[in-house]
Amino acid sequence: MSHQVHIQGTEHRFEINDDENVIDAATRAGLMLPHSCRSGTCGTCMGQVVEGQIHYPNGLPPAIDAEQAAAGQALFCQARASEDLLIAVGEVRDAGDIRPQRLPARVAAIEECAPDVRRVFLKLPGDKRLPFLAGQYIDFLLRGGQRRSFSLANAPHDDETLELHIRHLPGGVFSGYVFDDMQEGALLRFEGPIGNFFLREDSNRPMILMGGGTGFGPIKGIVEHALHLGVQRPMHIYWGARAQPDLYLDSLPRQWASEYAQINYTPVLSAPNTDDDWSGATGFVHQQVVNDHPDLSGFDVYMSGPPPMINAAKTAFADAGLPADRLYYDSFEAAPD
Ligand code: FES
Repeated sequence: MSHQVHIQGTEHRFEINDDENVIDAATRAGLMLPHSCRSGTCGTCMGQVVEGQIHYPNGLPPAIDAEQAAAGQALFCQARASEDLLIAVGEVRDAGDIRPQRLPARVAAIEECAPDVRRVFLKLPGDKRLPFLAGQYIDFLLRGGQRRSFSLANAPHDDETLELHIRHLPGGVFSGYVFDDMQEGALLRFEGPIGNFFLREDSNRPMILMGGGTGFGPIKGIVEHALHLGVQRPMHIYWGARAQPDLYLDSLPRQWASEYAQINYTPVLSAPNTDDDWSGATGFVHQQVVNDHPDLSGFDVYMSGPPPMINAAKTAFADAGLPADRLYYDSFEAAPD
């Protein structure tokens, strides 16, 4: 059985099956609604059910509480339609040819760039290219239906290979394979592109781009895309890491900052090693952003990285006057093994 979903204030209507969530149904209809983790943990897909009833097959997901649910808010990556729906979402975009596909890819190169970070480059079969928006991610499809999400770190114009920055997670099934066994030429399967973390090209506002750890990957893709487009908007890049070796591509944003007048770069270490000889900023990276820009009301902010950084930054940036609809983020939620 299926129902109809109408997005309030738009012409967009789509069909939703009983067994699919709102985000999947919208994607099938060629629409991009806000989403990131697709597992009910990040809150990016939160919207309003204006009319109709939804339900969650596995109970209330972690990123919504009973009070929000009672007020009609919903996590559309988990919500199923019990009847026809009228919904309100922050942003809706026609996906065009940017639609998730399931594809095989070979590992073209593996680069060790920090003790626990690898840059992995993938090549699609033949001359096939993947249309995507800078900053989106892909899901590797593993045995048993498991998935592992990684952001694309290259820009769409530079798409001969797809670049991923993969951190080793102790005990992690997939990252353990990447670090211990994976060889160049290995065949992987993935689905992508996914997510609504991408550069909004229709804005003139200055940007703050903040990455935590391998969250620098999608920031790199967005900046390279912006430079390719000739964007002149000021871009202040922040990269937060524990110690100096974790800034595994530090020379790249330094080079951007020296070549492009519109780019500033501030690396921030939370726990520098004693032998790091570090004279730069220290502490939490989101705090450094607020120290440098106490009024964020005129900015667009893009951030990606671990959930504690994302959650702390959401609060701190809102307190600094950043409107919620100008904060774009990708929270690197860990998938359970
Ligand atoms: Fe739905 Fe993360 S909670 S996309």
